[in-house]
Amino acid sequence: MAKSSEESPSRRTFMLIVIGLISTVIGVALTVPILGDVLNPLFKKRDIVWTKLGKVSDLEKLKPLAPKFTPVYFRVKEGWSVNTLPRQVVLVKDVSGNFNFFSNQCTHLGCPLHWDSSRQEFLCPCHGGMFNVLGKVTGGPPPRPLYRWVHKIENGTVFVQNKYVYNPNERGI
Ligand code: FES
Repeated sequence: MAKSSEESPSRRTFMLIVIGLISTVIGVALTVPILGDVLNPLFKKRDIVWTKLGKVSDLEKLKPLAPKFTPVYFRVKEGWSVNTLPRQVVLVKDVSGNFNFFSNQCTHLGCPLHWDSSRQEFLCPCHGGMFNVLGKVTGGPPPRPLYRWVHKIENGTVFVQNKYVYNPNERGI
């Protein structure tokens, strides 16, 4: 009898540990997918979306090698909200009539560029970066030419995507 009463608490303890472990496993199995669903939007990359830039017929009226800064707005889902992101497309028609859809962001650290018509260059106010009208670096620290927006033409209308051509991360901008 004495032996049985000594074993009893240890068997009870063992059963409690087993029940505790099973409860923990079930709890984790139920919580992880729910937490994943709730937190997933925080870690998702920005949506890739298209927005209308303008009619091809209007673009064709542009003067060659005269940059035109055009605002565009991308409606993207970020986390749990939908935001409108204002961006700039710098349209440059070359002498052959081809269009370039540059970003106005300096390729050094992303400051907004402006066009200096007297120098015929894009200038960066931050560290003196310079680009020619076709986006090539002509001075300062920028490591690469101007970024170009991904674009497409459908039914005579130009659309741009919130992504750069050759963007290594292929993420929304
Ligand atoms: S951000 Fe333009 S030169 Fe540095």
